[in-house]
Amino acid sequence: MNPRSNRRIQDLKGRRALVTGASRGLGRHIALSLAGRGATVALSARDRSRLEGVRRTILRAGGKAIVCPADALSSAQVERAVETAVRRLGGLDILVNNAGGAERFAGLTELNESDWSAAYDLNVLSILRFTRAALPALRRSRSGRIINIASVSGLEPGRFNPHYSTAKAAAIHLSKVLANELAPMRITVNTVCPGPLRTDAWERNLADQAVRRRLPLSVCRKRVEQEEAAKVPLGRVGECSDVTGLVDWLAGDSAAWTTGSCLRIDGGKLRSIG
Ligand SMILES: NC(=O)c1ccc[n+]([C@@H]2O[C@H](COP(=O)([O-])OP(=O)(O)OC[C@H]3O[C@@H](n4cnc5c(N)ncnc54)[C@H](OP(=O)(O)O)[C@@H]3O)[C@@H](O)[C@H]2O)c1
Repeated sequence: MNPRSNRRIQDLKGRRALVTGASRGLGRHIALSLAGRGATVALSARDRSRLEGVRRTILRAGGKAIVCPADALSSAQVERAVETAVRRLGGLDILVNNAGGAERFAGLTELNESDWSAAYDLNVLSILRFTRAALPALRRSRSGRIINIASVSGLEPGRFNPHYSTAKAAAIHLSKVLANELAPMRITVNTVCPGPLRTDAWERNLADQAVRRRLPLSVCRKRVEQEEAAKVPLGRVGECSDVTGLVDWLAGDSAAWTTGSCLRIDGGKLRSIG
């Protein structure tokens, strides 16, 4: 969502948010949208120059943001980044654990043990690292919010990337554990499970598929998009802007009584009712 487009809705004014994986893809859009609603946003990821670019975009749109780079695989870097965010923002109300993905796109027989460990580290342990580091500040907030980005593949695995889908299932489980534990502190914890989204990761996946299928990228792009759209009742791959509104809602006052929820936003892709 473009911060300009929702400039009048300032329902998160005064809230302080930290978004991981904010340098590109979905995390960048989440950060822009929260800032557009008035939150001051700390942007975290590894690539400082991209984070600075996101910060400039937010500032140009009249919002407030700082950067606090960190590798989500390093507890020491995460602690430093959260400490910087809390100090410069004067506290923390909202943590969006969005950093995630798979370093390697592959099927079961191609994956080795380190691929599985890496997927768990990035998609599960990073949530734990940021949550632990942010907990003292979130406890001091009058409305602490943790929003974890998982995936529909954590609810219904596909044939590809089982290391990723298994890690996302663990992330969903971890979110529920955290929701139960942190409810007495009035911190809510919810999971957002998007279906296929057009992001940088989507583009990398397409490039990988083009090699696997021995197709030119443009042909592969058309084919994969048609295949994926056919699996979605609403007939298209999602955009980041399809997801940001849900994150905004979870971050705000209207979601005060929502915790431990796992919310799918997938164009109807999953056919079960659970
Ligand atoms: N795209 C989809 O179809 C889809 C569907 C369902 C769920 N999701 C989930 O949505 C989230 C965002 O995905 P995306 O598609 O936007 O991915 P993306 O375009 O690849 O962006 C990933 C973000 O995570 C950051 N990141 C990756 N490794 C990191 C690390 N070790 N330390 C710190 N930051 C790291 C990246 O920044 P740096 O490289 O600068 O560190 C980047 O900002 C992920 O959790 C993903 O699993 C995506």
